Amino acid sequence: MEEVINMNNSVSVSVLSADMLDLGGEIKKIENAGAEMLHFDVMDGVFVKNITMGIPTLQAVRRATDLKLDVHLMITEPLRYVREFVKAGADIVSFHLEAGSDAAGTIAAIREAGAKAAVAIKPGTPAEAVFPYLESVDMVLVMTVEPGFGGQSFIESTVDKIKAVRAKINELGLSCHVQVDGGINDITAKTVTDAGADVLVSGSYLFKAENMAESVGKLKVAR
Ligand code: DX5
Ligand code: ZN
Repeated sequence: MEEVINMNNSVSVSVLSADMLDLGGEIKKIENAGAEMLHFDVMDGVFVKNITMGIPTLQAVRRATDLKLDVHLMITEPLRYVREFVKAGADIVSFHLEAGSDAAGTIAAIREAGAKAAVAIKPGTPAEAVFPYLESVDMVLVMTVEPGFGGQSFIESTVDKIKAVRAKINELGLSCHVQVDGGINDITAKTVTDAGADVLVSGSYLFKAENMAESVGKLKVAR
């Protein structure tokens, strides 16, 4: 039977802001803080101007935790790699529509490999771009900063887009999740939750916090 991931009103912690030398310890901290998921940012230096982690690191993270692994691919040609990321331990794989791969084929490849599939869009891409895929994905990732780096400020103009994506999902009667990523803290969490987001990614805010559990709690705004 397919395992159900409870993603309603959940927090996915981005390890991009973690101390990479002590990734195991940081993962324990995330587990103890009560977050539902671990967000794993993959950047190839081509789709975005940064290079982060890849398959061997994901395999190591998989061995270290039972947390759901939410893998965000910021790479060109995601279709070439999605199966390997699922094999390495991803529970959810998101890829960018701007990356130019055959989107329907990429979604199918992720699902056939056994993971949940999500489409991601950058701040400049309109909500309508994801509409053709809503029936075949588990989640839409609306980027609330330009992908590439942690620690940036939330882009307010993305709020209307979150609302538009949520409205379309409701109109179609789907159970698709809306994830937001970038600049999420205790203040912006309320804005995005009110707009219809239900899976909140957060990195720098949580790793800077003195008490991560308390800060994770602050992100879980009542919907
Ligand atoms: C940015 C990444 C984010 C990043 C978020 O391209 O996709 O996941 O880690 O970091 P914060 O929460 O610091 O904006
Ligand atoms: Zn991300």
